[in-house]
Amino acid sequence: MKNSIPNHVAIIMDGNGRWATRQGKKRTDGHYAGYKRFKQTALYILDKGVKYLSVFAFSTENFKRSEEEVNYLMNLFVTAFKKDKNFFIENDVRVLFSGRKEPLSDEVYNTMKQIEEMTKDCKRGVFNVCINYGGQAEIVDTAKKIARLVKDNKLDINDITEETYYKYQYQDLPPIDLMIRTSGEIRISNFMLYSLSYAELYFTSTCFPDFDEKEFDKALEDYQNRNITKGKA
Ligand code: FPP
Repeated sequence: MKNSIPNHVAIIMDGNGRWATRQGKKRTDGHYAGYKRFKQTALYILDKGVKYLSVFAFSTENFKRSEEEVNYLMNLFVTAFKKDKNFFIENDVRVLFSGRKEPLSDEVYNTMKQIEEMTKDCKRGVFNVCINYGGQAEIVDTAKKIARLVKDNKLDINDITEETYYKYQYQDLPPIDLMIRTSGEIRISNFMLYSLSYAELYFTSTCFPDFDEKEFDKALEDYQNRNITKGKA
């Protein structure tokens, strides 16, 4: 029997730069194409019955890229999310952002908070967009949050378990069932380390701007035919 549709899918949207360079375009054109692709493929993923989609849009390490590229991406986050706020509301998608505040500008951070607020009652599904995100940083920040709650007598230390830990992370989301990485790199690159513990991993050489509905169907088919034991069998 096939596995059911994954509840939580994560995507490392890699290869925008290579996609652009191969076509003689600027790397930043690849990021723009990546954003357009995200909107299209992400909705399709929800249509398939997936409830939660986490995407890696900008890692803490990405700040080491050229100033031009970092500025382009920060500007894209602000302009695209502002322009598309109705897109998310009309499609009934709740948008959450995960990552550290520093060194994001107030403009980027405030845009993220506004979109979260505007979409907070949307019910069809959740897009968790990771910006200025690192998986080890999330584990450290979660440990600090838990330590503070215990110190303030708001949490009993015995109530911290593998299962309850999820709700203290940046966002209270279920474990990831399927993680997809585009562009041929076979690494996790510090993405959602705790939540990926039992995820099935799928790697494709397709660059993210070409990761369309058919490409997702291939990943889903592969996932549904796997023998998923989560250590039990
Ligand atoms: C990796 O490709 C991609 C990024 C660092 C940025 C991802 C951003 C987007 C897809 C656009 C914004 C999307 C959302 C949802 C806000 P790369 O530049 O590392 O490509 P390369 O490995 O070919 O150089």
